[in-house]
Order: sequence, then structure tokens, then C-alpha cells
Amino acid sequence: MNVLIVGSGGREHAIAASVAKSPRADKIFCAPGNAGIAEHAQCVPIGAMEFDKLRDFAKENAIDLCIVGMDDPLVGGLVDVLEEAGIRTFGPKKNAAILEGSKAFSKDLMKKYNIPTAAYENFTDPKAAVAYLETAKFPIVLKADGLALGKGVLICKDLEEAKAGVKEIMLDKKFGTAGNEMVIEEFMTGREVSVLSFVDGKTIKTMTSAQDHKRAGDGDTGLNTGGMGTFSPSPFYTKEVEEFCEKYVYQATVDAMAAEGRPFKGVIFFGLMLTEDGPKVLEYNARFGDPEAQVVLPRMKNDILEVMEACIDGTLDQVDLQFEDNAAVCVVLASEGYPVSYEKGFPITGLEEFKKHEGYYCFHAGTKFNGDQIVTNGGRVLGVTAKGKDLKEARANAYAATEWVNFKNKYMRHDIGKAIDEA
Ligand code: AMP
Ligand code: GLY
Repeated sequence: MNVLIVGSGGREHAIAASVAKSPRADKIFCAPGNAGIAEHAQCVPIGAMEFDKLRDFAKENAIDLCIVGMDDPLVGGLVDVLEEAGIRTFGPKKNAAILEGSKAFSKDLMKKYNIPTAAYENFTDPKAAVAYLETAKFPIVLKADGLALGKGVLICKDLEEAKAGVKEIMLDKKFGTAGNEMVIEEFMTGREVSVLSFVDGKTIKTMTSAQDHKRAGDGDTGLNTGGMGTFSPSPFYTKEVEEFCEKYVYQATVDAMAAEGRPFKGVIFFGLMLTEDGPKVLEYNARFGDPEAQVVLPRMKNDILEVMEACIDGTLDQVDLQFEDNAAVCVVLASEGYPVSYEKGFPITGLEEFKKHEGYYCFHAGTKFNGDQIVTNGGRVLGVTAKGKDLKEARANAYAATEWVNFKNKYMRHDIGKAIDEA
């Protein structure tokens, strides 16, 4: 089977590594890929938003399955373009990817189908938003409706900050058209858990849980990032939490999308907050999380191609999804200065060490070849992942492995997975 993966980050590297393990995979391509993905796949210089070129490439290279990893092409309708050309594709169509593409849509869906989430209102008029804020309780949360690289969420401690937030999102258009509409929602507190799931339009099978660390600095300080590290499973995702979500969140979401005429096939990522009043949905994503995929996929026992095909064919009910009874931790190695400004182009050393150790992975997020040398090419550079028999061992292993690789301005958090000590 010839496979084309669309994307270029650590998530796509984790997907490519899983696909490469499948005995069913013949040729694997990745567009555009990166220097690490090149170990498993032939990288082709086509951008994830170049839909026509991707379709033509898939046809010319007899692609049997295309896997779309990233949010932008999913929300933009790449799956529809490929399917119309007869190419089997793993991922939601445009009318279902809206679950991630519009926060106003997803909030209304949850309200209509009684799926637990923070109380909220949607606004298209900045004046109405400010009028609402004048009588609101603080802190309060402002969210740009559309995709904003995970940065369109503002937590405002008072009216003044919130008014400035409305201006930033709706008038100054800091996040572009993503800010044409805005959600204002209640501020919640609690632990966050990420649960990824496979969905075939009607059946849902959840994967093992994970937790991300979104802030740039130790102790959850500094700016929000794409994610500085993850661990899996989350010890806070108890049997009780899982049963609650199975009853009120997971199948309810899949059924709601089907009832709306938007059957969802692909991965639904549930961003949950475990509040005092029970688990609530913070957000949905229509794809694997990054870096969640880097701790979840290495622990999956199934052949990823079989599971993805079952999602496409609507036969997921026949799949017994299984994960190893161990743990994994991923520590992101970033460029000093991320997420604001940073330098790129520095040579990376020590990558070969990972080939010598079972259960260790170095997923590339922002790297490229400069001649035959691999150099840094982004804010998040590498995701160093290690397994262990439990979370503590996995964490020790992952941090030991961060010492194997070096590049100028290497930066990481030192407290990834520290929360597990409190579990
Ligand atoms: P989102 O992109 O919606 O996941 O939001 C990004 C981050 O903002 C989440 O991971 C939370 O840490 C935080 N956040 C979002 N919504 C809320 C909320 N209603 N209350 C508290 N924190 C929130
Ligand atoms: N790690 C959060 C995300 O992928 O959106």
C-alpha cells in the first residue's frame, strides 16, 4: 500500500514512524515532511495547503491512502478534494473539521446536545461583546472563533483586559479572519487531559490519555506555545472520569455530528478540563495532538493502517484498539526565544544515539537538511520521547535522552511530567 502523509511536524513524524512499522506499507511519502521524517518516508516539496498539487501527486504515484495530519488543510477541505479525485483519505471532510475550525460551532453543538462545557456566548459584534463583558464575572476567557495556531485564547483578569482583548481579536484582527466571530466563556480551573480517539462516522474508540504542557517556562509560566512536552497516560484520567466521558462526551459528540449531517471520520481530540463539577470539554481538535501523538502512538499496539482504513470503511466497531501497559514522556527541545523570536540553521548532533536504544524516539518538529547535515529549522525542533515501565521511569529516561542531542540555543522545560508526583 502506498501512503502519503501531509504535514511537517513532530506529529507527522510520529505518524510516519507508526506507518513504517506496518507490514502493509509499501512506499511512504510525506509532503512536505522534514529531515527526521525522511528516515521513514520520501519527502516531497509540496506544501500542505497546495491541494491541487497534492491531488495530482497522489494520482501520479498511485497513493492508496492519504493521511492528513494538520488542522489547516483539514479545515480548508483537503479531504474533500482528494476524495473527489478517488483517493482514499484519513481525516474529516470540511463539513466535519469545523468541529475544530469554528469554536462558535463547537460550543453551539455542545449546548444543543448537552455535552458538558463552560458556559459561553458567541459574538460577531464587538460592541455587543463589550456590553456583555460589562456585567460579567472575572477572570473570563475570550476565544477567536477560527484557527489561530493555538494562540487565539485570552484569559482576562478584569474588564480592562477583556476590552483590550475584544479590540485585539475583533477590531485589530490579530488572528486574521479567525476573529470575525468570538466566543466569551466562563473561566474554569482544574487539570487538563487530552484524549485522542479514532472515529468512523458512528463508532468511536478512544486512545490512551495524555497531558500537554502548553506554557513555555517551568512551573507553567511564560507564553502559550504549541506544546513543550507530554506524558501518557495521565494518572488523573481515572476510571471514573473515563466512564463519565463515555456517557456524556465521546459518543455524544460523534452522534451529534452525525445528527447534524456532518459525520466525522478521523481523529477527534478531546481537550478536557477536570473541574470540581466534573469533566468539561475545553476544546475539540479534528486531528492528532502535537506533541500528544508523540507519546500516544509509540504505545499503540495496533497496525495504524488497519485502524485508519477501518475509520474510512466504517468498520471501527470490529477493531480492538490496544495500548501497551507502560508509559511515555516527550520533552520538546526548542530554540531559545520560542515562541517569540529565535534563530534557526544550527547543526544538530547526537541524533544517531536514538537508533541504538529500544523505546527511545527523537521526533523532528522543525529540522531540515543543509547538505547532508541536519539543522534546526523552527521554534520547536525535536520531541525527545522515551518509554518506561511507569511515568517516573519514562520521565527519567526522556530527560537522560535530552542530553544525547545538542544544538546551539537548545531550550527545554525541566518539569515535564512533574505533576505525576502529585498523583
Ligand atoms: P483551547 O485552544 O481552547 O484549548 O485553549 C487553550 C488553553 O487555554 C487551554 O488548554 C486552557 O489551558 C486554556 N483555556 C481555554 N478555555 C479555558 C476556560 N474556559 N477556562 C480556563 N482555561 C481555559
Ligand atoms: N497539543 C495541543 C494541540 O495539538 O493542539
